[in-house]
Amino acid sequence: MVSYKELGLVNSRELFKKAVDGGYAIPAFNFNNMEQLQAIISACVETKSPVILQVSSGARKYANQTLLRYMAQGAVQYAKELGYEIPIVLHLDHGDSFELCKDCINSGFSSVMIDGSHLPYEENVALTKKVVEYAHQHDVTVEGELGVLAGIEDEVQAEHHTYTEPDDVVDFVSRTGVDSLAISIGTSHGAFKFTPEQCTRNKDGVLVPPPLRFDILEEIEKRIPGFPIVLHGSSSVPQQYVATINQYGGKLKDSIGIPEEQLRKAAKSAVCKINIDSDGRLAMTAAVREVFANKPAEFDPRKYLGPAREELKKLYMHKTEKVLGSAGKA
Ligand code: G3H
Ligand code: 13P
Ligand code: ZN
Repeated sequence: MVSYKELGLVNSRELFKKAVDGGYAIPAFNFNNMEQLQAIISACVETKSPVILQVSSGARKYANQTLLRYMAQGAVQYAKELGYEIPIVLHLDHGDSFELCKDCINSGFSSVMIDGSHLPYEENVALTKKVVEYAHQHDVTVEGELGVLAGIEDEVQAEHHTYTEPDDVVDFVSRTGVDSLAISIGTSHGAFKFTPEQCTRNKDGVLVPPPLRFDILEEIEKRIPGFPIVLHGSSSVPQQYVATINQYGGKLKDSIGIPEEQLRKAAKSAVCKINIDSDGRLAMTAAVREVFANKPAEFDPRKYLGPAREELKKLYMHKTEKVLGSAGKA
């Protein structure tokens, strides 16, 4: 049993309280490898932002769970070396069983998500409550989810959103004891959120998707005032990355993400954690493709992963400074 406290990590409780009160959101960036982790930490140290390092079960399978945990421990030291101690949370993304959550808690995670959103309501309540009871014995915070996002999640594709039902949230939060709640108000996982046909052009000619359901968010906030809310599926799908990928031999179909202004608006509410994974994947792929296309004789991985890491860092700094408002809050 390793406690996250020994590793220099923090749980999300205090961070969320400050974020809700301060009208900003903490970035939750997924990582699977060293370059992503370096970019996240250096961007957040440089912008003085607290950060949530997010590990999915797919990431655990890809990179090895033990290595990932040591990498997160290393990240705490790395941030110190860079000269500014930011609060770092190590969070399990989309935990799907009690055993997985327990395993993560026992190996040093400071926060876990138990995602029972696909289960019938009472089963979601029972599973979430069981995880909370174990997690709280170890001062680990827990994120639950109500409502189902459209899009791809661990290879499961949901065609349509099932928006969170505001009338369920008081019951769910009080019976489970969760510390934060992920909701479904129109975001979706993956890089393909909206087709251009689903969007309209604004006065500047930019394609804009249907707005998030801020009316549902407001109803939820009325029922559980100040309770920490989480938004998954919040990548904005920067069009310059899609264009670069396709310019250098990629074949991504047209896709529109969540506009940054809408995320900024959400961050000012009780939304205090915003999950971003796909934008990082696009940034990395664009940078690697560009090197491969322009320097075909290059074969040292540092020569293409290095530029990818730089591009990721720029992206993450932009998110903390211009989108979530977490810069300067560490
Ligand atoms: O919500 C899912 C995250 O983007 C993680 O994706 O399961 O492919 O690692 P993954
Ligand atoms: P994106 O696919 O929009 O980046 O969402 C990531 C996410 O919600 C991770 O849990
Ligand atoms: Zn998610």
